[in-house]
Amino acid sequence: MKGIVLFLAVALTSGLLMASAVNLPGVPVDFEVDDKVLSAIADDISERLAKEYVTYLKTGIETAAFKKLTQQLAKSHSQKDIFTRNMPDLEPRDSFFVCVACRSVMRVFIRTIREEEGELHGEGSSALMKDFAMDFCRRLNLQTEEVCEGLIDSNLPSVEYIMRNSESDSQSFCSLFMEFSFCNTGTNQDYNWTLTVDDSVQPLTSSKSDTDRYSESDLKICQFTDIHHDPLYEPGSLASCAEPMCCQRNKDTVEGTSEAAGYWGDYRDCDLPWHTFESALNHAVANHKCDYVYQTGDIVDHMVWATSVEKNTAVLTKVSQRLNEAFGDVPVYPCIGNHEPHPLNLFSPEGVPDEISTKWLYEHLYNDWSKWLPAETKETILKGGYYTVSPKPGFRIIALNSNDCYTDNFWLYHSGTDKIPQLQWFHDTLLAAEKAGEYVHVLTHIPSGDGTCWSVWAREFNRCITRFSSTISGIFTGHSHKDEIFVYYSEQGHATAVAWNGGAVTTFSNKNPNYRVYDVSQTSHVITNHRTFIFNVTEANLTPDEEPKWFEEYQFMNEFTEDTSPAGIDKLLDELASNPELMRKYWRFRVTQGDPYLKGGCDRTCLAGSLCRAAVTVNTETKRCEELRAKLYAALDNEGNTTPGDGGNTTPGDGGSSPGTTPGDEDDGGGGSATLTLLSISSLLAIVLATRLSF
Ligand SMILES: *[C@@H]1O[C@H](CO)[C@@H](O)[C@H](O)[C@H]1NC(C)=O
Ligand SMILES: *[C@@H]1O[C@H](CO)[C@@H](O)[C@H](O)[C@H]1NC(C)=O
Repeated sequence: MKGIVLFLAVALTSGLLMASAVNLPGVPVDFEVDDKVLSAIADDISERLAKEYVTYLKTGIETAAFKKLTQQLAKSHSQKDIFTRNMPDLEPRDSFFVCVACRSVMRVFIRTIREEEGELHGEGSSALMKDFAMDFCRRLNLQTEEVCEGLIDSNLPSVEYIMRNSESDSQSFCSLFMEFSFCNTGTNQDYNWTLTVDDSVQPLTSSKSDTDRYSESDLKICQFTDIHHDPLYEPGSLASCAEPMCCQRNKDTVEGTSEAAGYWGDYRDCDLPWHTFESALNHAVANHKCDYVYQTGDIVDHMVWATSVEKNTAVLTKVSQRLNEAFGDVPVYPCIGNHEPHPLNLFSPEGVPDEISTKWLYEHLYNDWSKWLPAETKETILKGGYYTVSPKPGFRIIALNSNDCYTDNFWLYHSGTDKIPQLQWFHDTLLAAEKAGEYVHVLTHIPSGDGTCWSVWAREFNRCITRFSSTISGIFTGHSHKDEIFVYYSEQGHATAVAWNGGAVTTFSNKNPNYRVYDVSQTSHVITNHRTFIFNVTEANLTPDEEPKWFEEYQFMNEFTEDTSPAGIDKLLDELASNPELMRKYWRFRVTQGDPYLKGGCDRTCLAGSLCRAAVTVNTETKRCEELRAKLYAALDNEGNTTPGDGGNTTPGDGGSSPGTTPGDEDDGGGGSATLTLLSISSLLAIVLATRLSF
């Protein structure tokens, strides 16, 4: 019995499964007023639901109250978004639903499974648990049968183990899971540790500035991130389906219609066909002399309900081999994304039973990667999927497994302290690099300010970045599928480092495929410039028989600034805030000028979200972000009401998944007027739900 509930909790209720792509530090500033009320309402509803479920499990009788409650809840959320968006990007009504579902599932679980006298306690009841989970899925209209079943089957064993071996109650479990919303009711002290950080040098007294500028002799580093190759992609198949990812099926009925997937990829919720990946590699090889290649994670597609060891390892190896073929002697330095494991997002600690351990993945990746990495990297890769390597004297790469901070990685709920060793190793490796006079590049899939990156981990990561700001020359990230930058700050507010987020090779969702070439100083290894290459998906699909026309979308230094030091990029953020036209340009590049995005436009909330985000590297620290937001709003007010490009796309959660709709404006994460309106709608909804349910 076990897992059911938990699985539910886990797999289903969250957006977690899906993962990936978008993030946003949303930073809800105006949520405080309503949080307690919302949380109390969510608690009340989840208590009722849990109680009714327990009764149903005990007696098999569906009371009228039970039916009414589950029917109401089933209607209260958007089926697709709860799976395809990250938690922080959910509309308030969906957050509310997920919070209620999470808490009630955890309650049922704790009562019936963990407690000795619970109805589902004991061994041998896995089938029963699965029945329960499927029932929950159907009743609350979570997803299609196939998707629910796939997720349940793959997540149940790990979730069950985690739940049985942790002490969390329903509120604290869901708090961490939804760290960034009203559902968070406080901090469990076991989840608030600090690292030992070397303090032998004087703290910074100003932002890091005066770094090397662009020179013709700079190294070229090519970045491919979020490849998300879908081996089942079928041109002509249905591109707007009910599942979280499409473009695989129903070719016979939709081919030739507007519902059909394009040959070179599709803006709808679809991943990358193989021939498009090859096209990207061919273009890069023919046009650039890459000295090194960075591959920053997420090779596996978004068919999150149908992962398997066989499928994932086949795709991982195929992509690695193709990279190797394309680049020959040029080393490819990879890091792990959240999509690599099966089940999705789950990275176990060492020492758990083999059937739920991530060991197989680390072993597999080491084998794939050993053509580029020295044997010394094996130990840490097998331990936790991270490593360090020095490609040449004076230069070091540290590749982290950022899934330690990912709140969709349920193993976080098993233990917070087993996330210390990797970060402490990160610190120690930086200290050794400093002593050796080396400059360091950090590769890490998830940007630390992401709303789904656990804030305690991010805070301690930031302390390392601040301490070693003169050693760290660049941070390279992915995950959000956006072309964007993140500025790191010390506690005193000095800019210490910049993370360069490389967009995505996949089109998922609404974007053009892209890769990136950085210019990097030969001596200090700072990034002095970069060029981003894309093709137009709409145009490429008009001529399936011709290679896509890749082109240089822009050069950073020409469009924004030649001063790429942390101080220079921090200054750029102020310029973006005071110059809305420049900010609109930043946004267009941010979304790789995908046609659906450009059609939808970016209103003030969206612009502010895109900017604000660039100043957040711990999702709870938003002072600089708020400052920039206020400045941008003032600048927009000055522009008057007839703003070009203000597409009026004020409805976050539009999903962007069906044809004809604009992409969801997932960047307004909170604070804007649109969000406030939605929040009050959701409070209303909550109250209505609550009162109508008071039987
Ligand atoms: C967590 O620890 C930090 C540093 O020790 C402390 O400043 C903070 O107040 C703690 N947070 C909570 C919620 O206990
Ligand atoms: C992409 O191509 C289509 C079709 O030619 C065109 O309508 C659209 O404007 C192009 N998009 C961009 C951003 O240039």
